[in-house]
Amino acid sequence: MSGSLVRAPKLRGADTWPAQAKSPLRVITCGSVDDGKSTLMGRLLCDAQLVCEDQLASLSSARGHGDGEQLNFALLLDGLQAEREQGITIDVAHRFFSTPKRKFIVADAPGHNEYTRNMATGASTADLAVIVVDIRQGILRQTKRHTHLLSLLGIRHIVLAVNKMDLVGYSESKYLAVLNDFRAFTETLGFATVDAIPMSARFGDNVVFRSKNVPWYAGSVLLEYLEDFEVCSTEKHKVPRFPVQLVIRPHSDFRGYAGRVASGTIRVGDPVVVAKSGSHSSVAKIVTADGDLLSAREGDAVTLVLSDELDVSRGDILVSPSSRPYVDDHFQACLIWFDPDPMRPGRSYLLRTENDSVEATITALRHRVDVDSLLCQPASTLEMNEVGVCNILAQRPLAFDAYEQNRSTGNFLLVDRASGATVGAGMMVSPLRRPSNIHLQSLDVCKASRAEIKGQQPAVLWFTGLSGSGKSTIANALETLLHASGKHTYILDGDNLRNGLNRDLGFGFVDRIENIRRVAEVAKLMADAGLIVICSFISPFREERRIARELMDEGEFVEIFIDTPLEECVRRDPKGLYEKALKGEITDFTGVSSPYEPPEQPELHLKTVGHEPTILAREIESFLKERTRTHIGT
Ligand code: ADX
Repeated sequence: MSGSLVRAPKLRGADTWPAQAKSPLRVITCGSVDDGKSTLMGRLLCDAQLVCEDQLASLSSARGHGDGEQLNFALLLDGLQAEREQGITIDVAHRFFSTPKRKFIVADAPGHNEYTRNMATGASTADLAVIVVDIRQGILRQTKRHTHLLSLLGIRHIVLAVNKMDLVGYSESKYLAVLNDFRAFTETLGFATVDAIPMSARFGDNVVFRSKNVPWYAGSVLLEYLEDFEVCSTEKHKVPRFPVQLVIRPHSDFRGYAGRVASGTIRVGDPVVVAKSGSHSSVAKIVTADGDLLSAREGDAVTLVLSDELDVSRGDILVSPSSRPYVDDHFQACLIWFDPDPMRPGRSYLLRTENDSVEATITALRHRVDVDSLLCQPASTLEMNEVGVCNILAQRPLAFDAYEQNRSTGNFLLVDRASGATVGAGMMVSPLRRPSNIHLQSLDVCKASRAEIKGQQPAVLWFTGLSGSGKSTIANALETLLHASGKHTYILDGDNLRNGLNRDLGFGFVDRIENIRRVAEVAKLMADAGLIVICSFISPFREERRIARELMDEGEFVEIFIDTPLEECVRRDPKGLYEKALKGEITDFTGVSSPYEPPEQPELHLKTVGHEPTILAREIESFLKERTRTHIGT
């Protein structure tokens, strides 16, 4: 988005990256809405002469949007008209610029509501954070929240830009008061350095040029500080990690693995291990479009050729034998939730690492981390902008590091498959090993032979619909019919199971998800025993019904929508529950105070109004007969 306003190729002096000895510095800037963060970045770029002439011209014509006669530097960064009108920056933008001394990559995390998303995106790669505060406001609650998030996101270095010094007469005592406040607050947050610079972005004090207004300040000005900043050696010399993005095999004589060096340095001749399989080889060649290299370092996009033909695919990581990452399908992670729809344990999402993607289920929320205090709190869901520690089970093993050790191979995003939206960002904490001595036992009598002896095809007939829609009545009628024709059946019914296996569960989102998970697992076992299982549950959420379907064998799951309008269910009210729910005496009641998501493509859609349960049961029986006939025919 607005990052396109100030792009490297357009910048004066930045046509080519200078051959500085220093590594590029990745910076994230954060601050509350009115602290002047955009003005500061604009001032930095302008005074360091990193803005091209046409942008300065458009700024001059934009006088009047800003502070009196001063150029409105915020306009350099808040590029979109809509943002300008709202007076806030909307999204994270990466800007690239360089001075003769160093190359910079700056991510801008706005201070408004969706800040966690932007911070998580910008901070996961940053070396240092510039936190802008308004000297008149001091350390606000939002500044504290940002700083907490920065510490969670593994940022080790902070510079406090104490802005708007002109509005307090460049007072040293006021500056020291803010600085002391901030130091006291950050004492326990594990930052390696916390520095501060008194400045006025509006007048350019201590941004690029030293200010005469703060003779009491002897430290660096901001640009100097950033140019000279040393990323400490332990962070620089990270172990080699090469996530494989693509296997390149143009002909049988060449097999290369394309990707970007995520950390460390990789040299020709280095021994490597394929993280998931543990196979060994060494680097034979490092190929790029501009010719072969002897070594590649963090950030370089290259293709590696190994000395041996190994089985390596996208999602794998090539690593050094002396420092292997974790390979596991079950792990603990810290999750930052972005989505307005809360995170619910039991749900599955698409988990994306830098080079892999896999379906994964959040099996448990261990606790929420209060971003105001960093204290752990018990919680059953995470709301937007909340942070929590979860257990996650992926469908197959992933190669990863703990985020604390390696941010690039330790972070991931969660994507909602239905909407495609990124709903959260995660930081790997540790693998959660399941007992390694548990193996699936192979049994001599199999599902097919169990079904054969019963003379039937196993099935899971999944009834879904509102309470009082007629599920149990039709299920009962169906079982009577099937039983009479010699079929082996069993009914799993919501009310019954909630008296036993699921007696610990209520009707909140999380408990309903767990209810259906358990029931689906039981139905799977029963189908494995060769039975025709009739499941009668409201099962209000599409996602859980989809998961139940995927658990069964192909064609085994038959979704039957018992479609009765809510008004009719209320009228029937066989258990008197609607009356209570409408009076507010029962909470989370489906259709009244909790949602029901009707199936989109059920195998059978049965409207109950005006149709006898036995007739509907016969319809299901005919469907099953037809299914068996086509099954035998194939
Ligand atoms: S589900 O939503 O988790 O699938 P389930 O089918 O097991 O629900 O249980 C639903 C039955 O529990 C209803 O038929 C009704 O008798 C009873 N019940 C009690 N409280 C509620 C509630 N708040 N919402 C829905 N059903 C409830």
